[in-house]
Amino acid sequence: MDGRDLVRSVKAVGSGGAAGGLRTVRAAWRRRRADATGLPRRGAERARVPGPVRDVEPGPGGGVVRFARTELRVMVAVNGAVFWGWDGVAPEPSYALAGRCPEPDPRALLEPDKDGGWRVVAERVTVVVSRHGAIEVCTPGGVTLRRDLPPRWWEPAGGGGARWMQRAEVAPDARFFGLGGRVGGPRLRDGTYRLWNTDPGRPFGPGDDPLYITMPVQMVVADAGTHLVFHDTSWDGTVTLREGEEGAGSGHDRAGACEVRMDGGPLRCWVMLGTPARVLRVWASLTGVPAVPPAWALGHHHARWGFGSEQEVRRIVAGYSERDLPLDAVHLDIDHLDGHRVFSVDRDRFPKLPVLAEDLRRDGIRLVSIVDPAVKAEPGDPVYDSGHARDAFVRDASGRPVEGVAWPGETVYPDFTHARVREWWGGLYQERLAQGFAGFWHDMNEPVSFTAFGENTLPRSARHALEGRGGDHREAHNVYALCMARAAYEGLRGLVPDQRPFLFSRSGWVGMQRYGGTWSGDVATGWPGLRASLSLVMGLGLCGVPYSGPDVGGFDGSPSPELYLRWLQLAAYLPLFRTHASLRAGRREPWEFGDDVLKHARVALAERRRLLPYFVTLAHLARRTGAPYVRPLWWGAPEDRALRNCEDAFLLGDSLLVAPVLEAGAVRRTVLLPPGRWYDTVTEAVYEGAGHKVVDAPLGRIPVFARAGAVLPVRGADGGLELEVWAPARGRSGGGTVVPDAGDGWEEPEVERYLTRWKGRRVVVRRETDEGRSEPAYPVRVRGLDHA
Ligand code: NOJ
Repeated sequence: MDGRDLVRSVKAVGSGGAAGGLRTVRAAWRRRRADATGLPRRGAERARVPGPVRDVEPGPGGGVVRFARTELRVMVAVNGAVFWGWDGVAPEPSYALAGRCPEPDPRALLEPDKDGGWRVVAERVTVVVSRHGAIEVCTPGGVTLRRDLPPRWWEPAGGGGARWMQRAEVAPDARFFGLGGRVGGPRLRDGTYRLWNTDPGRPFGPGDDPLYITMPVQMVVADAGTHLVFHDTSWDGTVTLREGEEGAGSGHDRAGACEVRMDGGPLRCWVMLGTPARVLRVWASLTGVPAVPPAWALGHHHARWGFGSEQEVRRIVAGYSERDLPLDAVHLDIDHLDGHRVFSVDRDRFPKLPVLAEDLRRDGIRLVSIVDPAVKAEPGDPVYDSGHARDAFVRDASGRPVEGVAWPGETVYPDFTHARVREWWGGLYQERLAQGFAGFWHDMNEPVSFTAFGENTLPRSARHALEGRGGDHREAHNVYALCMARAAYEGLRGLVPDQRPFLFSRSGWVGMQRYGGTWSGDVATGWPGLRASLSLVMGLGLCGVPYSGPDVGGFDGSPSPELYLRWLQLAAYLPLFRTHASLRAGRREPWEFGDDVLKHARVALAERRRLLPYFVTLAHLARRTGAPYVRPLWWGAPEDRALRNCEDAFLLGDSLLVAPVLEAGAVRRTVLLPPGRWYDTVTEAVYEGAGHKVVDAPLGRIPVFARAGAVLPVRGADGGLELEVWAPARGRSGGGTVVPDAGDGWEEPEVERYLTRWKGRRVVVRRETDEGRSEPAYPVRVRGLDHA
């Protein structure tokens, strides 16, 4: 979104374009002025490094190592994660942690190391602290996964918070992933990545960085092991990555390098190591388990900016149903609101929303509403009045509410870093629920305040409560959307206690999975956008946010029928499956692209519906284990370098491998299969991994493979659950997990485990319980038998 869009939109709602343009100029000017007076001047700075070690003080899980000019607190937690904080900082308070900091591991001991250094030895990790403050994280076998050099701080001579820098080395073969939602991944190439949640102001494509969700979280995968490192501070910063290189022949190796620079905040860090699955399990135990969306939210969603009226919503929904195209949710964009005001329906165009919602719900379709944080700054607006009365809005350093410009015009912004404000905001969703909405889509929450030039967000000097600690937007910016999601999630839990909230948010930070998911935002229409949307989903999954997906077709343009179809086919296998149409993009329903696309789209949509029980299972497993639904091919074999470099296919859970078509005109593609036997799920043809295979990818489908021996839950022809079993290789066995849907409430369904094996010439399936093995209670369909 940029100023031009705003001006256009302001014209569209009849307030006059010139006025809109003037507002954005004024907003830019106001922001600059506020920062000029409200931010401390950066004068002379003094650099500091730890200096030599002086003494130590053993403590639970490790202890404190004192240096000449700082001290380092090291703690190994019971879950195996390592924490360290410079200048003695503790793990709390933290916006990332799901609850209290995990208990220290009482068995971890601080002991002297060589050359005057110290080390903490625990069961799963050894942390070595050198005499000058370098920190090595080693596997129990003694292999170094990461070596952080002594940090450096720059402190303002007149006092105040320091900026800091921390360099690290990793193995020459290591690959970097994560850092939130990045276009250029999932493998993060050499370059500098910024940590500042940003609306790029236009549809984004390759090279656009940062985007809406940035996180100081890196997943580093090397032959010697996998580790995740998290620098727990929300300040603006950068991460510069450089992959290493192995010396050919007798040449030297060059280590991989990572340099984190932060404008402020504590220098504290969490590291966890093990297999990728273990790393994400520990990560989820630290930052929170992912919310499980209700089953309908794992179906197909259609969003449109500009439905314009209830009749049009009904017309589109009827279009899906007449053409036998599954649809589970419809998203209403900003235009269903009165003058774009949050929590207020445009009653002229949407006079009977609750009736519409009820009619749709009878057909199994839910309504989802957009919620932007910006509140129209106008006395008489009920949200403004109630927020004003509660002192809910962000203020500047002089104490005046910060005014910005967003869709409703002049706006103010709730300070979600205050518990009282979150509580107030959470209660406002009652209005949306009364209109019949079942889910919520948080938008523009970086937050965006349009300005005519420069950065489109709040002034850095804007004040925030930060849970009573007090601070400014430099620290609050990156957690703004996270706190908004928390407000909504907690509010909805109170308002509808017997239902799991459905929430997804454009912006966010570490821990956002506790409240819901996210989507790609305004990805540019085009083949690079299709590829970028996969990179976002994979990268976010590795940062602990498993539920996300792109806007099929991209945001702005008119995709070719082929591009639209390929995007739809990919998204049908991603957690959030949302098609999107808008004022600018025009109509995007599958029937707008001709009969061929319609026919093939129907197949993709039907397959998604068939796989719904599998998606439900993956959602529950994500909650229980932290494992994302969408996983890189190296998930089970991180030591396999070829898999580590493969970015054009992914695993969906344990059972499926999806190889999307990412190029125009392709009707065949090469797929790198991990070890084992795989079946093409349509032709049932057998492929033996590991290795590259060339497979058909006709316009009607993308290649999807099932692992031999997989048992996965699918929806049978009668709508009931069915087990789809892919014959194990002869002499082998297999299995799978099923978590049946227990409705939209909080009931914890039992995890069912199934084993499959050959018995004579038959493939049999048994459920395994503590009491023994039994026949499955569901119909079973064995596939791949002809080729096994
Ligand atoms: C920006 C969002 O990313 C997009 O999905 C939405 O359509 C527009 N805002 C309008 O609300």
